[in-house]
Amino acid sequence: MSAEIFDKVKSVLAEIETSNPQSPEEVEQFRITYLGSKNKIKPLFGEIRHIPNEQKKEFGQLVNTVKQAAEDKFQALKSASEAAQDQVDLGSIDLTAPGEPINIGSRHPVSITLNKIIDIFTRIGFNVAEDREIEDDWHNFTAMNTPEDHPARDMQDTFYLKDSTEMLLRTHTSSVQARWMTKNKPPIRIIAPGRVYRNETISARSHCQFHQVEGLYVDKNVSFADMKQTLLYFAQEMYGAETKIRLRPSFFPFTEPSAEMDVSCFICDAKGCSVCKYTGWVEILGCGMIDPEVLKNCGIDPDEYTGFAFGMGIERQAMMLYQINDIRLLFENDVRFLNQFKSAW
Ligand code: DAH
Repeated sequence: MSAEIFDKVKSVLAEIETSNPQSPEEVEQFRITYLGSKNKIKPLFGEIRHIPNEQKKEFGQLVNTVKQAAEDKFQALKSASEAAQDQVDLGSIDLTAPGEPINIGSRHPVSITLNKIIDIFTRIGFNVAEDREIEDDWHNFTAMNTPEDHPARDMQDTFYLKDSTEMLLRTHTSSVQARWMTKNKPPIRIIAPGRVYRNETISARSHCQFHQVEGLYVDKNVSFADMKQTLLYFAQEMYGAETKIRLRPSFFPFTEPSAEMDVSCFICDAKGCSVCKYTGWVEILGCGMIDPEVLKNCGIDPDEYTGFAFGMGIERQAMMLYQINDIRLLFENDVRFLNQFKSAW
């Protein structure tokens, strides 16, 4: 009788040792059979009742061996199956595929345009000069030959600091001319980029804030011809070697004579299109010979020195370069718009 029971236990042990579950389902079935709550080994312990006392120890050890064998095998199967699972996951990943690109954004079209302008002028000896956006009345208006009662002030209404008639957000980068000339002696060759403000209703063509680049050249014997040649060089570098320029008489309080400069329309090759309003020309900047009054205001002797100055809106150049039809797009920071300039820098 006891030999039969021993055989039964040994056959369970053999069963465990020879079983070969593969799939996760088969491994789970193995666990249920030998280690689950109604497992095959549990009842074997009960058989000890039928074993003579002198064999009880041996029998107990044998059943424990079976239990241990089941636990060891299950652990081994589990590790093997997890490793296999990992293999499958790795197999489904292409480790040679390039990583997800990190979106580093793109330069703003105003920055791209400004960088182009800076690049062009620094190549012919201009330095970049930056100054404050919160300006006083003198540097923004009075020094630039626009005294308090001058009608030209009406065209550049701006934002004044609270309770102040003296401090304002600059209306143009021309204020940097006054800042620079009072502190430096000629020869002076600078361009001054920066943000400017006007009290204007926001529309597709104008905004209460925008950017300008000012140019200033003061030395002995600087002539109108120097200005024209400098601006022609700029226009051809910026808009193409075939670009022509035209200077139209104009008025600015700080230059005499003053002019507005047009470039031949590079969109339609001056044949006429909506950008040039079918004239073949587009206006891009204001310029002129520095008024002797301005030189005097800034402590430079107009009998010894002459100079020219010019100023242009950067948004305007950017809108023409990239054919952007609404200035507000440049301030809204809509990534669908900005992403279009990824390849431009
Ligand atoms: N400051 C002028 C404006 O904002 C632009 C300008 C015109 C600047 C002629 C100049 C200049 O330096 O000479 O409209």
